[in-house]
Amino acid sequence: MMQLCAIRGVYFKKGKNCKIHRRAMQVENQLESSVKPLEPKPKIPYVVGSKSPTAVAINSASKAGEWIKSRLGLIKEINTKCSPQDLVTDVDKGAELMIRKLILTHFPDHAILGEESVDPGAEASANALTEAKKEAEYLWIIDPIDGTTNFVQGYPFFCVSIALAYRGEVIIGVIYDPIRDEMFVAEKGKGAYVHGNPTRVSRDDKLADSVLAVGFNPDREVALPVNMKGITALSDRTRSLRAAGSAALHLAYVAAGRLSGYYEVGLNAWDIAAGALLVKESGGIVTDTVGNPYDIGVRRLVATNGKIHQELLDVLKTAEATGV
Ligand code: IPD
Ligand code: CA
Ligand code: CA
Repeated sequence: MMQLCAIRGVYFKKGKNCKIHRRAMQVENQLESSVKPLEPKPKIPYVVGSKSPTAVAINSASKAGEWIKSRLGLIKEINTKCSPQDLVTDVDKGAELMIRKLILTHFPDHAILGEESVDPGAEASANALTEAKKEAEYLWIIDPIDGTTNFVQGYPFFCVSIALAYRGEVIIGVIYDPIRDEMFVAEKGKGAYVHGNPTRVSRDDKLADSVLAVGFNPDREVALPVNMKGITALSDRTRSLRAAGSAALHLAYVAAGRLSGYYEVGLNAWDIAAGALLVKESGGIVTDTVGNPYDIGVRRLVATNGKIHQELLDVLKTAEATGV
């Protein structure tokens, strides 16, 4: 019977091709001694590349928002952070995880700063922002539930806030209110919309004719006393004040002309980033409490329709309510 031998999948008749066979064996041996075992390939994350960052932000906010709404009244765990007023639930954490996964599926090399992945407190927040900015040119800034106290209470005023910054400047801002199913979307230089309708700030040109939002900040030691001075001064100078408990939704409402301004000291980057772009793209002005232009490090905020901005800054200055 004819004898066959195989070298690298090629069959040779033994004897007839013995020279070839010997040469092939030599080559095979050389190869085996020179070729190093293959390094295991790094695991490439599953990436979907076709969606724009705005579409991803909208999709993530919508998915997380629906899930958050479905958990109303079904919270499993409530903890406090830096004060008894500063709450966090299992739903805040779950929503952040969901948003992170969705974003990284599309943009695995972007950095993410999410509230629930940062230690509590002003200093930790500021440090986390500095570090996140160094990590990548594109930085997503997420507040999975803005208005956690409301969510816990079943008070229907909370939202998901997602922003994307490029080299420190916010270029996309999305705020989703799952209760009213309102999706606010802003893109730098392209305007702001709520479900396709352009948003526009109010026309009030006097503080006395304006309704403003303020906040009872959970930092009872430093921020709240400053806010209280501002609230006292403004209560007397405006048509009325609202403190509905969601910084991001207050900003979306300023953008939509439902409020003429918002003031609060002691906020974090994730409370403000998306909403600040919404206000700017709707024709408003966003600064810190002494009038410096907004950047993602601002923690003491004034956002208005522009017309009442200076008057509001002046009141805060006189009341010594600008904070540090
Ligand atoms: C809070 C809300 C609240 C504001 C606080 C924020 P959270 O965010 O925006 O309106 O007054 O300063 O911390 O904790 O609900 O995400
Ligand atoms: Ca918040
Ligand atoms: Ca939050």
